[in-house]
Amino acid sequence: MAAYKFIDHKFDVVVVGAGGSGLRAALGCAAAGLRTACVTKVFPTRSHTVAAQGGISASLGNMSHDEWKWHMYDTVKGSDWLGDQDAIEYLARNAPAAVYELEHWGVPFSRTEEGKIYQRAFGGMTKNYGEAPIQRTCAAADRTGHAMLHTMYGQAIAKQTEFFIEYFALDLIMDNGVCRGVTAWKLDDGTLHRFQAQQVILATGGYGRAYFSATSAHTCTGDGGGMALRAGLPLQDMEFVQFHPTGIYGAGCLITEGARGEGGYLTNSEGERFMERYAPSVKDLAPRDMVSRAMTLEIREGRGVGPNKDHIYLHLDHLSPATLAERLPGISETAKIFAGVDLTREPIPVLPTVHYNMGGIPTNFHCEVVTKAGGNPDSVIPGLMAVGEAACVSVHGANRLGSNSLTDLVVFGRAAGLRCGDSLEPGATQPDMKDAWTDGHLARLDRFRNANGGTPTAKLRLEMQKTMQEDAAVFRTGESLKSGAERMAKVFAGKADLSVQDRTMIWNTDLVETLELDNLIGQAVVTVEGALNRTESRGAHAREDFADRDDKEWMKHTLAWIDENTGKVSIDYRPVHNFTMTDEIDYIPPKARVY
Ligand code: FUM
Repeated sequence: MAAYKFIDHKFDVVVVGAGGSGLRAALGCAAAGLRTACVTKVFPTRSHTVAAQGGISASLGNMSHDEWKWHMYDTVKGSDWLGDQDAIEYLARNAPAAVYELEHWGVPFSRTEEGKIYQRAFGGMTKNYGEAPIQRTCAAADRTGHAMLHTMYGQAIAKQTEFFIEYFALDLIMDNGVCRGVTAWKLDDGTLHRFQAQQVILATGGYGRAYFSATSAHTCTGDGGGMALRAGLPLQDMEFVQFHPTGIYGAGCLITEGARGEGGYLTNSEGERFMERYAPSVKDLAPRDMVSRAMTLEIREGRGVGPNKDHIYLHLDHLSPATLAERLPGISETAKIFAGVDLTREPIPVLPTVHYNMGGIPTNFHCEVVTKAGGNPDSVIPGLMAVGEAACVSVHGANRLGSNSLTDLVVFGRAAGLRCGDSLEPGATQPDMKDAWTDGHLARLDRFRNANGGTPTAKLRLEMQKTMQEDAAVFRTGESLKSGAERMAKVFAGKADLSVQDRTMIWNTDLVETLELDNLIGQAVVTVEGALNRTESRGAHAREDFADRDDKEWMKHTLAWIDENTGKVSIDYRPVHNFTMTDEIDYIPPKARVY
């Protein structure tokens, strides 16, 4: 398109996103001698990892004896047997080394009396294969993600990663099924860029903002997932959306699970610690899907608190002010600002709130993007990797355990760097860039920039968010999901009537939000269609009309593609990896998920 000109760049690796996984991948590639660019729409230390609170899981054994095999078992059970066990073995085995690496880089972890890294209890983390809760989550007070992100940004700079900050990624540059790079728009001067690379690593985070109430930042618009769908690639297991039990009622801000790890507990309107009924052995430290369902049932059955009986209380008022100040200073402040609560005296009003996407871009445990092609369910897309919440590796399966996300970021960020170091040659020749590869990117940009329909972006976004919140919630039914699918089809069609007022290219937030909305809509559509299609209950996908887990029919990953013109979704499946990475541990066969 003659109206637009690209500035071309060539790198060995381009990482899109500068959260925990993006920074870890970028610094690993740079350290391997590969010329590495990191393209990010926000300043790196404003990436959403900065908001991660409670900690990072690893079987360090600082509080009591622990083993990576126990961590692996808990993660498989937490995933409701949808996680790939080779990838989960990789996660649990490599977690301690990844945490010590962070410590050596300078992450200011909280300390035990002996000076070791402090570890707290988190939901679903147990000793001796489910016997009792264990303290496995390494914490820097309740600002662990903040500490990690700042430390890794420093490391990435030290290792000569080249940052392209406030560049909004537009689309993947694809050449006959091979990824050759990514296009991006530099927000502060309006220039357009083509980043060519031997390997693109998508580290763009989740798409929590498809929902009305989410702990995710407003920037969590799943830009990598949107780009993958437009490139004709499938997304995996998108029906599994995690609700964190303790978002602040009304505001949606996160109150860390670490609060319950430090001894906090939930009560209903009768003052009852109701989790004792739902998970007698681990109680408030049950996995998130179970706690969120229990809270929803208490509210439904009339035992919610507040004038409308529509939320639950989280108590920390029995803990000493000194403990709260030392271990939970961040949420003490958040509760004051967003709920007006002094948590040394009063309970915090909380409600399950969208927090994490278990689904994403399918990868193997080397972080290479895979698809099902020619009958091969593990067929690798050359030149493309994905890490972090954008990816579905799949270590979290149908339900992620709290504090396994930060582990996922650094373990698989590191794995991506190692794979690139092993498989790429620094400065290797790349084919000449072709306009035909990127003309479609410009056409899309131009279409939205000049959109002159009757629907403001914010109006269509609200319609999507309300639909997802109402119809693809903690509990779902065929009826709610059918309604969700129909409403989302209308939202998809509504893209044709969007109106963008600002036609400029410099700091055009109207256009940025429209491009982000486009990314969100594709993912919301495949989420609701995947949920309608999966006629069982597993992990975070709780169908009231199919209340049981059905391993015979459904122990498989959903793959969902979308037709960008019509919004029609096609679905296929990949088998769950029911094998481990080494013969040091056996496959963990499915059983009832009781806590
Ligand atoms: O509750 C939290 O601190 C969140 C942690 C996580 O999602 O892993």
